[in-house]
Amino acid sequence: MAEDSQKTTHFGFTDVPENQKAGMVHGVFTNVASKYDIMNDVMSVGIHRIWKDAMMDWLAPRAGQRLLDVAGGTGDVSFRFLARAGDADAVVLDMTESMLVEGRKRAEASSLADRLDWVVGDAMALPFEDNSFDVYTISFGIRNVTRIADALSEAYRVLRPGGRLMVLEFSQLPNPMMQKAYDLYSFNVIPKMGKVIAGDSESYQYLVESIRQFPDQDTFAGMIRAAGFENVSYRNMTLGVAALHAGWKI
Ligand SMILES: C[S@@+](CC[C@H](N)C(=O)[O-])C[C@H]1O[C@@H](n2cnc3c(N)ncnc32)[C@H](O)[C@@H]1O
Repeated sequence: MAEDSQKTTHFGFTDVPENQKAGMVHGVFTNVASKYDIMNDVMSVGIHRIWKDAMMDWLAPRAGQRLLDVAGGTGDVSFRFLARAGDADAVVLDMTESMLVEGRKRAEASSLADRLDWVVGDAMALPFEDNSFDVYTISFGIRNVTRIADALSEAYRVLRPGGRLMVLEFSQLPNPMMQKAYDLYSFNVIPKMGKVIAGDSESYQYLVESIRQFPDQDTFAGMIRAAGFENVSYRNMTLGVAALHAGWKI
């Protein structure tokens, strides 16, 4: 047996062969794509919109910039970036085509379609040249990636010197009591909501398990530094339910 096929990783709370995880994640997002946007609003009571707006406040998009939004799904981050930057371009890359299809429908219903490209691809092997983007964003995507360090190295490679990385992701609440209350909500309510709204509790069970597996804020900041980024910092959102990490390629 080849060495690679023996390695395991986590898919939520289940150990799986490393080379099978991407296919399983792809299955989850293919299942939820048509209900993804509505489920986001319902599960977070609309708060994900505030977090994404806060991401843009910190990023302060400017005219002329080229954004790569990895694991961009239905395009939430790219739409916000373009609305704020004015004359700019964005590429939305995702490994799940059905998520991009939903995003494209949204783009066609707006005036932003001609400033957006939609690319099927893998965060761990980006199909772009070195030094080709001003900004790299990944929002609620990186915890799904099999080898996070590989995705961060790719982010570093495709950013231009002076380029900015911004990662929005679920995180850990520093207050243990609050973490417990949040766990009760997420493990008991979210899979049931998934069943009612999207007819799929398993995908949402994966979602809450994957959140608990993701490294805490300081550990993740260390991983970003290890990929080469400088001036790395983070801000907690909603008591640490999510965190926004930023870094620069100098
Ligand atoms: C929770 S959605 C986030 C979508 C969007 N960024 C947002 O904030 O609403 C996660 C996305 O990550 C994508 N994804 C997971 N692993 C990936 C990988 N290795 N490369 C590219 N996309 C990936 C999934 O297909 C899915 O669309």
